[in-house]
Amino acid sequence: MSNETLQAVRGMNDILPDEAELWLWFEEVVRDWLHSYGYRNIRMPLVEPTALFKRAIGEVTDIVEKEMYSFADALNGDHLTLRPEGTASCVRAALQHNLLYNAPQRLYYSGPMFRHERPQKGRYRQFHQFGVEALGFAGPDIDAEQILMCARLWRKLGLCDVTLQLNTLGDTASRHRHRAKLIGYFEQHLDMLDADATRRLHSNPLRILDSKNPAMQELITAAPKLADELEDDALRHFDEVQAMLRRHDVAFEINPQLVRGLDYYNRTVFEWVTTRLGAQGTICAGGRYDGLVEQVGGKPTPATGFAMGVERLLALLQEDGMALPKAEVDVYVVHQGELASRLASQVAEQLRDDRLRVLLHCGGGSFKSQMKKADASGAAVAVVIGDDEAQANEVSVKPMQGGEQQRVSVQNLAATVNGIIK
Ligand code: HAM
Repeated sequence: MSNETLQAVRGMNDILPDEAELWLWFEEVVRDWLHSYGYRNIRMPLVEPTALFKRAIGEVTDIVEKEMYSFADALNGDHLTLRPEGTASCVRAALQHNLLYNAPQRLYYSGPMFRHERPQKGRYRQFHQFGVEALGFAGPDIDAEQILMCARLWRKLGLCDVTLQLNTLGDTASRHRHRAKLIGYFEQHLDMLDADATRRLHSNPLRILDSKNPAMQELITAAPKLADELEDDALRHFDEVQAMLRRHDVAFEINPQLVRGLDYYNRTVFEWVTTRLGAQGTICAGGRYDGLVEQVGGKPTPATGFAMGVERLLALLQEDGMALPKAEVDVYVVHQGELASRLASQVAEQLRDDRLRVLLHCGGGSFKSQMKKADASGAAVAVVIGDDEAQANEVSVKPMQGGEQQRVSVQNLAATVNGIIK
């Protein structure tokens, strides 16, 4: 058996304690913000039937074609996939448990997603999202509210240079008309299409517009525009979203090229982008997906949502010099001798009952070496217990930032510690 050191899978990161402090802080801020808009938490499995993502995201998308971690269950052969995103699972769960038809739902989830992409800064194979879904809402007010929500979060986090890109994809009929025109147009220019575009010509011509191939940019720029096909209803919906954003002073840029990489969208789509993260500048993205519930097997139900990439947001915050809040310890308990050690663990539990954060020294050693550890822990107070203190049911309390050491009874310990901390 080889004894080389094993490494994490490429593109999948460990989050070490120093960084995890920032994650915990961020997750709390985001949860508070979500609750302030009435969103409720839902938790779905990491693994779903592969068919769910094929149906929801679309067979001819990069995610489904190239990026899914799919496998056959070794025991029963079921086709399974590690979720590449959360919207499909959230809709599947809401349908499966009948959450959908009585009242609209505002739901959110968070956790790891998996995509087999080429790893680079801001792009990982296991990454984390907070996803936000409003199911059962048809009007433009919820589209605007979700965008306003994001703007509030960026303010809360002190991010001032993220910009909003906005577009509308219209409804099914206009997209079908546009699709037919695109196929006709590209068929007239077959010699200018690359292999990817040729393959997608009949399955998903819209995705050709997303091509980064410089040789095709002129062709793409002159292609038929979806904007010319939009129905009045969709245009009115989009106008109202924009009017609401203007009323709330949320700046945006209309980007007709914004089509998104998942097929379930219609009408409003948006992306929040920054120029500070290189090529991976989209920190949050989403839009309306009125057809998805039906596609997953339910009755037609309008819906809209978005997801943000946690790694990318934290990278931005760290670039802004956000100091990592370190977990603090209030008390370090130092003890030597058998009686003292028994009292020490009792006292530590008692202090925790009082909501104090306590490190009980483990592993023995001299008072001097234990005091060094107390110092390094950042605790505000050391509680020192030797057998003579233990016999008197007392302890010594030493403020670590200077000040007199004092001996107090076990009953008075919490009050004394709290007095020093305050
Ligand atoms: P998405 O645009 O695929 O949309 O992903 C949303 C966000 O997740 C991106 O803007 C980005 O911040 C982050 N992200 C995506 N891929 C990676 C990666 N490989 N590494 C790091 N971060 C990444 C969705 O997933 C939709 N489910 C959003 C949605 C919810 N639409 C409606 N509801």
